[in-house]
Amino acid sequence: MYLFGASGHGKVIKEILKANGVKVEAFVDDNPNVNECGGRPVLHNAMELSPMIVSIGLNKIRKEIVERLARNNPAIVFGKAIHPSAIVSPTARIGEGTVVMAGAVINADAVIGSHCIVNTGATIDHDCVIDDYCHVAPGVHVSGATHVGEGTWIGVGSSVVQCLTIGKNCMIGAGSVVVKDIPDDVMAYGNPCRIKTSNKQDNKMNKGKLAPTLIGGGEIVGYQIVVLHERRTYHAA
Ligand SMILES: CC(C)(COP(=O)(O)OP(=O)(O)OC[C@H]1O[C@@H](n2cnc3c(N)ncnc32)[C@H](O)[C@@H]1OP(=O)(O)O)[C@@H](O)C(=O)NCCC(=O)NCCS
Repeated sequence: MYLFGASGHGKVIKEILKANGVKVEAFVDDNPNVNECGGRPVLHNAMELSPMIVSIGLNKIRKEIVERLARNNPAIVFGKAIHPSAIVSPTARIGEGTVVMAGAVINADAVIGSHCIVNTGATIDHDCVIDDYCHVAPGVHVSGATHVGEGTWIGVGSSVVQCLTIGKNCMIGAGSVVVKDIPDDVMAYGNPCRIKTSNKQDNKMNKGKLAPTLIGGGEIVGYQIVVLHERRTYHAA
């Protein structure tokens, strides 16, 4: 297995794989200055490396990297990592590239999409549908038959009551209690969870900032998303 993203999140996935007897051959990362992570080498070219899990916490960047890898290598296989202490119903379905951390519980007939993160101690109850590229943060409880749209991040320790719909690309703040449907593309938080603004998952919400990428004479060739809480830089453009 290879892990794209030499990050703290990647180290957690590496240890889950180890607990399942799967060896991580190497990390892969765009940053040429990172050469070691979690005791494994870091490569800088993903060509033909497979199977792979994209170990980047930020939903939008994880999606961009998955799409880039699939474009460059149509034969790529995306793996999964499910910690042995997680309880996953035999009737639940989990998509490719998804990781399920220690102590998580996924109950009957839940459907978890591809390239999701079900983080430490999170619970997803019966008949929930969690679409692709979501992050259900540590200690979140999603009650039965709730639908979470693609790319949404439910912040650490939040609770969501049953039979709701949370839209796509939302940011639900830490410790929220979600008692009503939430539309697409918003940031919402609190108890009860209320909409605060349009979503800003890419920058301020991650305690990071956008910084221009400069070459030679100072021409702007793209933007890096500097994600401070992960202490690394993603090359987003
Ligand atoms: C919701 C969130 C994204 C807002 O980030 P932000 O836009 O940078 O917001 P700020 O820190 O500037 O706070 C703005 C105001 O909202 C309040 N606030 C922020 N997050 C809040 C939350 N989750 N619940 C209640 N109030 C919150 C702040 O106290 C502040 O109030 P003030 O203006 O009265 O001082 C962020 O606080 C959050 O909850 N992130 C989730 C992190 C997470 O789940 N991490 C898990 C990693 S695995």
